[in-house]
Formats: sequence, structure tokens, C-alpha cells
Amino acid sequence: MNILDIIIKKRDKQVLSKEEISFFVRGVTDGAIPDYQTSALLMAILLNGMTAEETAALTMEMAHSGALFDLHTVDGYKVDKHSTGGVADTTTLILAPLVASLGVPVVKMSGRGLGFSGGTIDKLESIPGFRVDLSASEAISYAKKSKLVLMGQTDNLTPADKKLYALRDVTGTVDSIPLIAASIMAKKIAAGADGIVLDVKCGSGAFMKTQQDAEALAKTMVAMGRHVGRKVTAVISSMAQPLGMYIGNSLEVMEAIHVLKGETAGDLLDVSVTLGAQMLLLAGRTQTEEEAKQLLLQQIKNGEGLAKFRELLIQQGGNPDILSQTQLLPLSPVSLTVHAKTTGYLSQMDTAKIGRASQETGAGRAYKEQPLDFGAGIIMHKRLGDFVQKGEPLATLYSASKNTCRAAADRMDTAFTYSTNRPDIPPLILQILSAQPNDRA
Ligand code: URA
Repeated sequence: MNILDIIIKKRDKQVLSKEEISFFVRGVTDGAIPDYQTSALLMAILLNGMTAEETAALTMEMAHSGALFDLHTVDGYKVDKHSTGGVADTTTLILAPLVASLGVPVVKMSGRGLGFSGGTIDKLESIPGFRVDLSASEAISYAKKSKLVLMGQTDNLTPADKKLYALRDVTGTVDSIPLIAASIMAKKIAAGADGIVLDVKCGSGAFMKTQQDAEALAKTMVAMGRHVGRKVTAVISSMAQPLGMYIGNSLEVMEAIHVLKGETAGDLLDVSVTLGAQMLLLAGRTQTEEEAKQLLLQQIKNGEGLAKFRELLIQQGGNPDILSQTQLLPLSPVSLTVHAKTTGYLSQMDTAKIGRASQETGAGRAYKEQPLDFGAGIIMHKRLGDFVQKGEPLATLYSASKNTCRAAADRMDTAFTYSTNRPDIPPLILQILSAQPNDRA
């Protein structure tokens, strides 16, 4: 067997065997296959797709490319959550402490930014002192004590995904249903949680632009969960505009703190509570979605969610003073504001473009090894459907230099569409799909 034959086979739209997929994943993991051939096969998969069997084989090979994380010594039903990637998508920093504060353990391994979408690990690393690189034993001892761990993937967890994820980020091969499904489910299977809530993003700021594609991705992953005996719920949520108002690493940490303090409401809170409620339902902590949402909101009002976030910061070396003094978080020194070009309703946002603009400020990577500017990003001032006057501020960008700020602002300038009539805004939560492991496929 050799990789060139496999690339040609997929280029010619044929179905790969389990053995060929296994050969590919092993070759990626041990470095036998060079990046250029891996990238070629990724592009062929993106263009020509994979069958359900190929996707399942890719997932299982990737899940077993390293060690499995064993959480059985942590008491309770462990729930995990994963987003397919969006812009200003900071739900983990909000829902994880809220859910853990209700006694349900959350041990979550997160990733870095991918393409125009941000990553929880990059956000956490913007907190002075916060350590995301925990050993398995350290994570388990924290989980037993606090019920909350947010960390990077351990070195030996799905090493195949680590390589593929980093390559996909810089080769235009992110938005493929089988590659996203396999990447997410392999990590979730290896990370050992009993139940998994997936936030499948849909719209201009998501890898899945249409509800049909988002549903196909959600169904693929829910079916995979059933196949491997994990309870999986997928929430399809709108990414027609940035979820929160702050985009970037430290900026998103700031917004999460505002939400946990009860100072900000809106879409970011609503999606966090919807996902958190599904986590509580999977864990059997409550019987109804409404009760679960009320419990989560109560943890904001009574300060328990914020207290749990403080406990997490202290546990992992982060400076807890950021909770009362968010100015301790980095903020880049150069700023520029983008203004409305015309008077009218904001009818559409090209959210991926806004994500790219944020990446360009320095908040994301353009190449694999690029260091991030943690204080860079964007603060949005308007939401879809808002009526704006020509010249009103739409967003403020922060960057380390005038040049990067200007380039990002120029890109951002073209991300908005205006209308004279009030536009229809898609609902925030589009669909919820779930399956128990013993449901029939
Ligand atoms: N999140 C992942 O973990 N992998 C993807 O491929 C996309 C989003």
C-alpha cells in the first residue's frame, strides 16, 4: 500500500477501504507521510467527500491514534461539549463553570483557533498565568476536587487530529463534513466523557453555511455517538452574526466574565444556557429543559458560576484578579473604528469575513507557527436588524500596529449589508437532535 495510490483513488472519487484509512492515519501519526501528501489527500476528501463507513473508519482510527483518557475514577456523569467553530463563540467559558457549579463534572479538552474561528485554548492562554498543558493525572486530581478542568489536549490524545487540524487550518481544507465530524468525534471519544453536547454552527460565520449541511454534520456525529456507545446531543445554532459582541482572545474572556457576572445578556448567554441545559439533561441532573435553564440562570444570579470560574483560575495558575479588574487582561494598543456606510437596517453580516478580520488583527493565525497577539480583536457595536445612521460606529478593532489594524478594518468594512426594510433574522436555535446509544440507527 502507498499513499500516492490512496490520494489518486480519492481524487478519482473512489471509496477508501478501512485498511487504506488506517494506513493514512498511522502514516500521519508517525510522520511517515509528508505534509504535502497529507494535504493533497485532505483536499481530495474535501472535494469528493467520504461515505458514512469511511467517516466512521477515519474517526475510530484517529480516536485510537494515541492514548484514551480514562475518567472513570472521577465520580459522576461526565459531560463534554464541543462547538464546530464560530466567531465570538465563547460559550465554553460560560457554560463550563455554570454546569460544574451544579455538581456535574466537566473535564474538557479544547483546541486552538481554526481558520476564521476562535479556539478556547488560545482564549485561556490570554489569561496571565493560566496553564492549559496539564498532565492526565493532574487533570484527574483537579476534576475530583473542583469538577471543572479546561485544558489542551494531552500530548498523546489523538495525535493524528493534532497534525491534521493544524494542516487543515492553513490549506483551505477545514469545511468538509467528514473531516470536521471525524476530528470532533475522535477527540470526544478519546477524551472519555459519558455524554457529549455538540454545538453545530450554521450560517455565514460557520463552516456549515446552510441548515441542510449543518443537519448533515449533526446527524453524522450523533450517529457516530450511537455507534460507540456515547450519548450525544447536537444543537444547531445560528452563526449569521458573531455570537457575542467581543471577538479575540482576551476580549472573549472579558465578555465571558461580564456574562458570568450577570452584566450582559443576549445571544451568547442564550446559546450558553441552551447548551448547558442539554448537558444537565444528559447527566440526568434535571428532567426538563426549562428547569435546567432556570438552574443555570440561577447560578449566574447567586454568583456560584463566577465563583466556580475563580476556582478554575486559581487551580490552573490564572490570575483571579482579572474577575474584578478586566484591565489586567491584554488589550492591543492601536484601535480603529469601522462606521456604517449608509443609513438603513443591518440586514446581513459576512461573519466569516469578520472572523478573518479578527485573525488579521493578530487574534488568529495565518500560518501554523504564528504567535498570537492575545489582546487583538474586535468589539462589535451593532447586531443584525439594528437600524443605523450613516457614519455610526459598527465595530472597533484592536491590533498591535497601525498596518495590521488598517488591513483588518478594510476587510471588516465590506462585511455588512444594509436594507431599507426590516430584515428577517434567523432564529438563534435552529434544531436540537439527540440519540441514546441504544437507539436504532
Ligand atoms: N472543531 C474541531 O475540533 N475540528 C474541526 O475540524 C472543526 C471544528
